[in-house]
Amino acid sequence: MKRLLITGGAGFIGSNFIRYILAKYPGYHVINLDKLTYAGNLENLSGLENDARHEFIQGDICDAEAVAGILRKGIDSVINFAAESHVDRSILSSSEFIRTNVVGTLNLIELCRKNRIGRYIQISTDEVYGSLGSSGFFTEASPIQPNSPYAASKASADMLVRSYCHTHGFPGIITRCSNNYGPYQFPEKLIPLLISNAINGFPLPIYGDGLYVRDWIHVRDHCSAVDAVLHNGKPGEVYNIGARQELPNIQVARTILRLLGKDESLLTFVEDRPGHDRRYAIDPSRIEKELNWRAQTLFDSGIRETIDWYRNNSNWIEHVRSGAYLTYYDRMYGQRHKTLSEM
Ligand code: NAD
Ligand code: DAU
Repeated sequence: MKRLLITGGAGFIGSNFIRYILAKYPGYHVINLDKLTYAGNLENLSGLENDARHEFIQGDICDAEAVAGILRKGIDSVINFAAESHVDRSILSSSEFIRTNVVGTLNLIELCRKNRIGRYIQISTDEVYGSLGSSGFFTEASPIQPNSPYAASKASADMLVRSYCHTHGFPGIITRCSNNYGPYQFPEKLIPLLISNAINGFPLPIYGDGLYVRDWIHVRDHCSAVDAVLHNGKPGEVYNIGARQELPNIQVARTILRLLGKDESLLTFVEDRPGHDRRYAIDPSRIEKELNWRAQTLFDSGIRETIDWYRNNSNWIEHVRSGAYLTYYDRMYGQRHKTLSEM
């Protein structure tokens, strides 16, 4: 049996990853450390409330005592999804991004090193590479040129992990994935925002000219890639993860409107994001060749499936929009799961 510490497991990708891992490896035990910020939602883990293989602990990756306490209980590998993840928020205020993404990562790797944890995966992002023009791709050798405070905080964390690998022989691996979409994504991000607005007949905000390009991957494919890295990746290395599915934002918006049978008059061009990166595009050749991993979901089918999920889970969206999800912990987990003071 393997014991994994997954941080940020109540967020979008972390919760999908926990579901993925427990379904694929029935013998694994997951400890999920999440601070439950505005983006953390235990409704993302509904159905696992009574699964003894999932242990939720509300806590902060910056809290050395809490992390050390968990590691001392015996952990084979740590996968760090916890982060402040929204670029727009980092433009408004960046200090929380530095605290969690940089200081939190440093706290984790230092304690993992001291406790001789066998493997540490840092979930990073393609945004550390900055922006591309109309051609070319990000490879693992591309220069690190972050443009937003969010990207700078993720790049700083990557540099710390790299330095620990180099200096201490730390068994860290960095993954850099492109834009994810799928179930349980907080509707501040483009795709869930567009879907929920379109369902409700609200305007779809398109920044600038709408010709900014993102490289979309279904979250399930990101999970299978992290699984491949966790089990077969080489310590000290970086793996780019992507599905080779570049699309301009306006095309994503038009596709969503078409699939929902809504009128294009809902498209609303709004003021651009400051410092907006023009194009991201990942070259995933390395993980494909070395770890025999491939993205499986085409955008065309993935977006239909995702729209169906949001249509069939209107309660989830309603709870997120109204803030009702913030009380889910007390209702569903309060009796069974630990807070830090109970550890
Ligand atoms: P998210 O915002 O949905 O979830 C982040 C989770 O981290 C939340 O549950 C939150 O409560 C938790 N958290 C925040 N601060 C914490 C702290 N100090 N201690 C413990 N928990 C804390 O983010 P996401 O979209 O699921 O992204 C997960 C990771 O993947 C992030 O590291 C992000 O940088 C990276 N990433 C995201 C994408 C994407 O498209 N969403 C793409 C590539 C990489
Ligand atoms: O590339 C990986 C990154 O993808 C992750 O590291 C980040 O955590 C994740 O948030 C995402 O960053 P982006 O900034 O690319 O995602 P976002 O969904 O915020 O925006 C996607 C594109 O859509 C971007 O060009 C900005 C644009 N946009 C976004 C919003 C929220 C709009 O046009 N309108 C909007 O309302």
